[in-house]
Amino acid sequence: GSIDLRKDVGKIDELEKRLKFSEMVGYIGIGHTRWATHGAVTRWNAHPHIDCSGKIVVVHNGIIENYVDLKRDLERKGHKFRTQTDTEVIPHLIEEHLKEKETFLEAFEAAIRELKGAYALAIITSLEPERIYFARFFSPLVIGIGDKEYFVASDIPAFLEWTQRVIILHDGDYGYVSQDGVFLKNLFVGDFVERDIMTVEWTKEMAEKGGFEHFMLKEIHEQPESVRRTIIMAEKQMADMVSMLDDAEDIYIVAAGTSYYASLHGQYAFAKYGLKSRAIVSSEFLEEVGTFVDKDDVIIGVSQSGETADTLKALRHAKNRGAKIIAITNVIGSAITRIADKSIIMGAGPEIGVAATKTFTAQVATLNYMILKWAKAHGYDVGNLVEKLRNAPEDMSLVLKDNEDKAKKLAEEMYVKTNAYYLGRGLGLPTALEGALKMKEIAYIHAEGYPAGESKHGPIALVEPGFPIFAVVLKDETYHRMQIAIEEMKSRGGYIVSVTEMDDTHTQNMSDFSFFVPGGYSNILAPLVYVIPLQLVAYYTAVKRGYD
Ligand code: F6R
Repeated sequence: GSIDLRKDVGKIDELEKRLKFSEMVGYIGIGHTRWATHGAVTRWNAHPHIDCSGKIVVVHNGIIENYVDLKRDLERKGHKFRTQTDTEVIPHLIEEHLKEKETFLEAFEAAIRELKGAYALAIITSLEPERIYFARFFSPLVIGIGDKEYFVASDIPAFLEWTQRVIILHDGDYGYVSQDGVFLKNLFVGDFVERDIMTVEWTKEMAEKGGFEHFMLKEIHEQPESVRRTIIMAEKQMADMVSMLDDAEDIYIVAAGTSYYASLHGQYAFAKYGLKSRAIVSSEFLEEVGTFVDKDDVIIGVSQSGETADTLKALRHAKNRGAKIIAITNVIGSAITRIADKSIIMGAGPEIGVAATKTFTAQVATLNYMILKWAKAHGYDVGNLVEKLRNAPEDMSLVLKDNEDKAKKLAEEMYVKTNAYYLGRGLGLPTALEGALKMKEIAYIHAEGYPAGESKHGPIALVEPGFPIFAVVLKDETYHRMQIAIEEMKSRGGYIVSVTEMDDTHTQNMSDFSFFVPGGYSNILAPLVYVIPLQLVAYYTAVKRGYD
C-alpha cells in the first residue's frame, strides 16, 4: 500500500549504485529512461511523475501536446506542479477525476480522454496495489504474458528474458494487468476488446550483448545471419508480389531515416529493371504526393519498428485514398502490419541498438529480392544475382573480418574531426547517405552525404586540407565520374577515404585510406557489403570519442 519512488539523472549503472533499484521490495513496479524533452535535465523532471497526494505514479513515453492548457486548468483547481514536464499533468488529471468518479479505472479513462498527442503509459497507484494500468496512443506499447506474471513495455526485447508471448496494443487501448490477467478496453470502441496473443521467435540471447561491448557492434556483426534469415523469409512471403507491383500505376516507397535510405536504394534497384518508383521521406509524403495518390497506386512502407508515426501517417493517408499498402517491417504485429494489405516480415531479430544497422541491410535484401522476382517474371536477365544475394552473407562476414581493425585505425584519426562528406553515385548513393547518418548520429560529428556530382555546386567550398571525404566507389557506369569527384576533392586537400572493390587499385592509389569489399557487388547488391566499413568507422569513432 505504499510507493517507493527512486529517480535521478545519469547513466543507469551509476544510478543503480546510488539508488539500488534492484533492492526495491514489491511485486509490481514501473520505470522509464527518458531524454529530457520538456524542462532541464534534473531529478525532478526525471520519470516517474506523481500527483499531489503521492498516490498516483506515472511513466510516459510520447508527448502531451495540450499539456500547457491542462496544467493551467489544474493549477487553477489547486494542483501543485513540481516539474516542467508535459507528463506531470497525467497523474494530476487522474487525481482530479478521482474526485467525481467511483473507480480508479473510470478516472483513468476520463483523464486519457482529455490528452492530445502521443502516449504510452504505465501507472501504479497505492489505492490499488495489485495493478499496473496502461494506455497506448501512437507511442508503441506491448504486453508480455509470462507465467503468472505480466509485463508492460514499449518494445518486446524488454521482457524477452521472461516471455515470448506478446499482445501488441492498438491505438486507444487501455486497461490494467494484475495477477488475474489482462483487462483491456479501447477508447474508440468504448468497450472491452480482445487482442491476439502472439509468440515471437526472438530469443533471450538475441536481446543480450553476447560478449560484444555494445549492442550496436553486436548488431553490425549479426548482419550476415540477419540477411540470411531475411532472404529465407522473403522467399516465403512474396507469392503475390509481382501482380501487386504490375497492377500499380505509381509506386511510392515511404520511410524515415535509415529506412528511407534503404527505400532510396529500392528506387534505384527497381529502376535498374525498368520499374518506376519513387522513394519519399514519410514526413514529406502528404505535401509531396498526398494529393495525387489514389486507388491505382501501391505504397511500400518500410519501417524496422513498424511504429514510426510519420510513416504510419503517410500510409493511413494513402490507404484512405484507396491505395494498396505493402509493409516491410521487422516486427510482427506492429502497427504498420495492421494498415497494410500485405506485410513482409524481415528476419533481422530484435533491434536494440538505437542506430539501425542490421535492419538497413535486411531492408535492402528484401527490396532486392522483390525486384529480382519481378524482373525474372518479366523476362529480364538477372544473371546470377538471386544466387549471389543468397550467398551475400558469406561475403558480408569477410567484409566484417577484413575491415574491423582498419575501422579502428581510421577512428584514431576521425575522432578529432568536426565534419565529413560522404559521396556516392547511383547505387552507391544510398550507402553514402547512410554512412553519413551513422557518423552524425553515433559519433556526433557533422557529416553530410550527397550525390558526388553535386560537389561543384556548392559543398566543395568547405573542403580544406584534411577534410574527410568518404567515397563509395562502385565499378559500374558511375565509376569514372566518381574518380573525377575524388580528384576534385583531392585538389582541395581533402582526406580521401574510399570503399572500393578489392582489385580497384586505381581508386586505392588516389585515396589516403581504403576499405575493400569483394568484387561482384557493383550492382543492386552493393549496400550489403559497402555499408559495413562505414558502420564500423562510425561505431569506433564514437567509442574513441568516449560516447556511450
Ligand atoms: C538511424 C535510425 C533511424 C530510423 C528511423 C526509422 O540509425 O535508427 O533513422 O531508421 O527512425 O525507424 P523505423 O525503421 O523503425 O521506421
